[in-house]
Amino acid sequence: MTDIPQGERRVLLIVGGGVAAYKALELTRLLRKAGVAVRPILTRAGAQFVTPLSLSALAEDKVYQELFSLTDEHEMGHIELSRQADLIVVAPATADLMAKAANGHADDLASTTLLATDKPVLMAPAMNVRMWTHPATQRNLKTLQADGVAFVGPDEGAMACGEFGPGRMAEPAAIFAAIQAALAPAARPLAGRHVLLTAGPTAEPLDPVRVLTNRSSGKQGFAIAGALARLGARVTLVAGPVAVDTPPGVTRVNVETAVEMLNACQAALPADAAVCVAAVADWRPDEAFGVKLKKGHDGPPTLRLVENPDILATLSRPGPDRPRLVVGFAAETNDLEANARSKLGKKGCDWVVGNDVSQDGIMGGDDNEVLLVSAGAVEHWPKASKAEVARRLADRIAEHLR
Ligand SMILES: Cc1cc2nc3c(=O)[nH]c(=O)nc-3n(C[C@H](O)[C@H](O)[C@H](O)COP(=O)(O)O)c2cc1C
Repeated sequence: MTDIPQGERRVLLIVGGGVAAYKALELTRLLRKAGVAVRPILTRAGAQFVTPLSLSALAEDKVYQELFSLTDEHEMGHIELSRQADLIVVAPATADLMAKAANGHADDLASTTLLATDKPVLMAPAMNVRMWTHPATQRNLKTLQADGVAFVGPDEGAMACGEFGPGRMAEPAAIFAAIQAALAPAARPLAGRHVLLTAGPTAEPLDPVRVLTNRSSGKQGFAIAGALARLGARVTLVAGPVAVDTPPGVTRVNVETAVEMLNACQAALPADAAVCVAAVADWRPDEAFGVKLKKGHDGPPTLRLVENPDILATLSRPGPDRPRLVVGFAAETNDLEANARSKLGKKGCDWVVGNDVSQDGIMGGDDNEVLLVSAGAVEHWPKASKAEVARRLADRIAEHLR
């Protein structure tokens, strides 16, 4: 196996089973010529279209084909393959590989590697026009995009199957350009930065089985954590109780109460930026009963609430540990701009992202419409997917920290 020189950029190239696999050979040649190391994985179907020998000769490396291969697992397991790459490129990305990746399948070396990686992934789809426009493929495309997978192509044109339309794999030069952009330092502007993020609700116990909580789904915060990680940041995500998957490359710390959330945040400092998306309970019961409260003759119990610590205000307080940028979220049901402005002043943070949670579908939904309020300006961002809002905010944070 050829050693990869230190400092060289490394692509793990997954070649799927489509006619366009022949273009992966030209792509490999372009990458090698540019000094990029290429380590190929060839699917079984892919090997029906190009030979391991051609791919290996052009990549100047061994071709990995089997998940259950004693020699390959001994030399370099599926986890190690992705660990050693800066970028994973799937070209051609078959309908099948997209479906597997979108749904977390891991039944061969290619899909297992895609599931086991926290590295950025670029896919170049190639398939018949009907396969591409099929609702299942379009659904998988959306899922993968929301998971942070980047795409190049497909192009529109005449196909090997004799049909015409979108589905042709992008030309090797276009895929090469997308790879160059993905590998450029500018694509990872947050490399070396630590971002602390909170997300989800808190749950304040009343007794061993009951909690005071809220409807925050955690989706927006988790999407931001993923977007920041994709820009190269080391992300610590302090999460309340939610059923959302941890984005690749993010370190998650699970907590329940506001006090636990504050402690976890303080333990994670120092950080270059803190983004407080969690819907932290303002109050908690002054006493959590040790046994389950029962209905009784004295009527319903009276709950006394005490104020929780203010995590955003605490992290915003001037001092050596204050992150350079502190961003708060304001979920409001009325007077959004005025409330977001007043939160900015009261908490001492740098930006407030305000969202109107009285709108149907915002809380728990997949879209969001926000205001970005800073000391000197208010920006209204039109309604977009939470993934898109996350990408935009991550870009702004990267710009600010540059
Ligand atoms: C001649 C031929 C051409 C094919 N071309 C494509 C294609 O361009 N895109 C695609 O998604 N599937 C194509 N398929 C189907 C895939 O090869 C099949 O779904 C296979 O299981 C994909 O495996 P893989 O995703 O592990 O590479 C083709 C099949 C044949 C027989």
